[in-house]
Amino acid sequence: MYFDNKVIWITGASSGIGEALAYELAKQKTTLILSSRKKEALEKVREVCLRVNKEIYIEVLDLEKYDSMQGIADKVIAQHGRIDILINNGGISQRSLTKDTILEVDKRLMDINYLGTVALTKAVLPTFLKQQSGQIVTVTSLTGRFGTPYRSAYAASKHALHGFFDSLRAELVNDNIDICMVCPGFIKTQVSINAFVGDGSALNSMDDRQDNGMDVTIFAGRMMRAMRKKKKEVYIGKKEVVMIYIKRWMPWLYYKMIAKVAVR
Ligand SMILES: NC(=O)c1ccc[n+]([C@@H]2O[C@H](COP(=O)([O-])OP(=O)(O)OC[C@H]3O[C@@H](n4cnc5c(N)ncnc54)[C@H](OP(=O)(O)O)[C@@H]3O)[C@@H](O)[C@H]2O)c1
Repeated sequence: MYFDNKVIWITGASSGIGEALAYELAKQKTTLILSSRKKEALEKVREVCLRVNKEIYIEVLDLEKYDSMQGIADKVIAQHGRIDILINNGGISQRSLTKDTILEVDKRLMDINYLGTVALTKAVLPTFLKQQSGQIVTVTSLTGRFGTPYRSAYAASKHALHGFFDSLRAELVNDNIDICMVCPGFIKTQVSINAFVGDGSALNSMDDRQDNGMDVTIFAGRMMRAMRKKKKEVYIGKKEVVMIYIKRWMPWLYYKMIAKVAVR
């Protein structure tokens, strides 16, 4: 089995996609390191995982404090000896029009979603290179491939990740290190509740589109299949995924549609 005996580090493991991945990956013969800011929430996820797998560890981190990533990674690598898969999943969304969004919110989304992810990846990369093996999986968004209203700063942070990881993939072509970009559509998680509004506070409500989104366990299963198949980029969601192809093949239609579609 692809995941057997692998040390897998998941960020954003306290909730939503990361939590569902933890439960599914714990069923395999894996060692899991679960990370995010909230220790108590991580402990709850760990408790559930421990029912089927004893090798479950917690490492609290805040992606916004990206200068701390090297020290945390050094500690995790010293503890476990290796990392086979890094799943860069932790992140935060946005629900505000650009005209209503203070610049600090743009900066925070970039710090958390982009720089935090890049800093953690750079901190783990020397280990992957030494091993001459590994997989770096990064959860971006369909909005990492096209912009929508209410997501200007979020879409920018996710687009930036595609630029970074496409370049890194090309650099690692002879190092047996795979890069997998996972772009979710609407998945039923806490993402809209936690999303920043224009002044940097949380939206604190569940969007209709989120509520009717793909079940998170089904999503996790599809994401794991993409990882097993070493896909370079994958789009997972319901009918919203079609927008990827509309923008690619009929950009004129995308420009018309995207101004009208409901994204909340
Ligand atoms: N759900 C969707 O429809 C959807 C669509 C496209 C993309 N995504 C992406 O999927 C990823 C997971 O989101 P989700 O849907 O599972 O939402 P979620 O339920 O809100 O989970 C977000 C996770 O990220 C962690 N996180 C947030 N800020 C962090 C920080 N500063 N440092 C470390 N961890 C942080 C949270 O943990 P703590 O609060 O404990 O730190 C939580 O574990 C995100 O990158 C999101 O952008 C989701």
